Amino acid sequence: MQVTASAPGKTILFGEHAVVYGKPAIAVAINRKANVKIQKRADSKIFVEIPGLKLSGYLELEKEVIKIEKDQGNIGILNYILKSLKKAQIEGETESENGMEITVDLEMPISGGLGSSAAVTVATLTAALTHHKLENDHQIKISDQDLERDKIASYAHQIEMEVQGAASPIDTTLSTYGGSIYLSADANKIIRMPLDWDLPLIIGFTPRQMNTGELIEYVKIKKDRYPAVINSILDSMEQITETAREALLLKDEKILGELMNINQGLLDALGVNTPELSNMIYKARKAGALGSKITGAGGGGSIIAYCPQNRDEVLLKLAKKHTAFPVQLCGEGVQVKLSPKERFT
Ligand code: PMV
Repeated sequence: MQVTASAPGKTILFGEHAVVYGKPAIAVAINRKANVKIQKRADSKIFVEIPGLKLSGYLELEKEVIKIEKDQGNIGILNYILKSLKKAQIEGETESENGMEITVDLEMPISGGLGSSAAVTVATLTAALTHHKLENDHQIKISDQDLERDKIASYAHQIEMEVQGAASPIDTTLSTYGGSIYLSADANKIIRMPLDWDLPLIIGFTPRQMNTGELIEYVKIKKDRYPAVINSILDSMEQITETAREALLLKDEKILGELMNINQGLLDALGVNTPELSNMIYKARKAGALGSKITGAGGGGSIIAYCPQNRDEVLLKLAKKHTAFPVQLCGEGVQVKLSPKERFT
């Protein structure tokens, strides 16, 4: 018997960095997922493998110890998995001697501003909670409708806070529920935006030199040094997000594209752009994207190119030198599947 949970990543359309200072932001779930498969083991060990990252190791939940077998520098992601398994074990009231074999398949690059850690956390929590329910009662059948999404979203956010020290609820909310959200100016109110279109985007990715925390700190130093200058940039970002919210609801392609380009100029002014990101952004625009900008913290990582037309041209142009792939809005949040087949509901 095995359980597989799949949770989407995300992209921030407008408002990154400004959201740290109480400004609004808009983000959407994307159809690139983290898929976490859990199988019972005969012994009491917990073995995790992420073949795409050439990473594997054993986890000891009680002592919170990670014993690496194979690693190519991405060990950090195992902390999210460990905390998720521990939370699910406590919640599921399962014996600690129940061993598990866990395989993680990632459809997106990690540390690229695409919410991979939240997607892995939400999928691991969901798979493990389901696994424990089935361990306790072999007869029950579980479907997506049975998922306690509010609980999963809240646990996942707690885990991101524990591992990272700080995290907005954007990523974990989108991985859990899917769709699109507007994070209000007080940053605590998440409003779901009913978008009934796919929002065609191309992602361009480059490895990051700095992590999100360091980039936030970098902007903070600038803000402390030039408060009036940086505050007016953040105010402009707020206006962009508010205008974009209306444009998204009205499906106004031209305004959306223009606002992305203006937002990019301001992110550049904050100092989170890099020559490589800039290069991808201008290539995308030249190939026909209506708008393109950094998505997430910047300093490397990802860009989005908004392409209601010329999608193939933009993809081809970016993919020549960079990692690039098309994405669209993902309406569904975390999903769970049970196998063997007779357990499907
Ligand atoms: O690159 P990411 O996905 O970590 O996005 C960071 C976005 C910030 O606004 C800089 C921080 C945040 O928590 O919203």
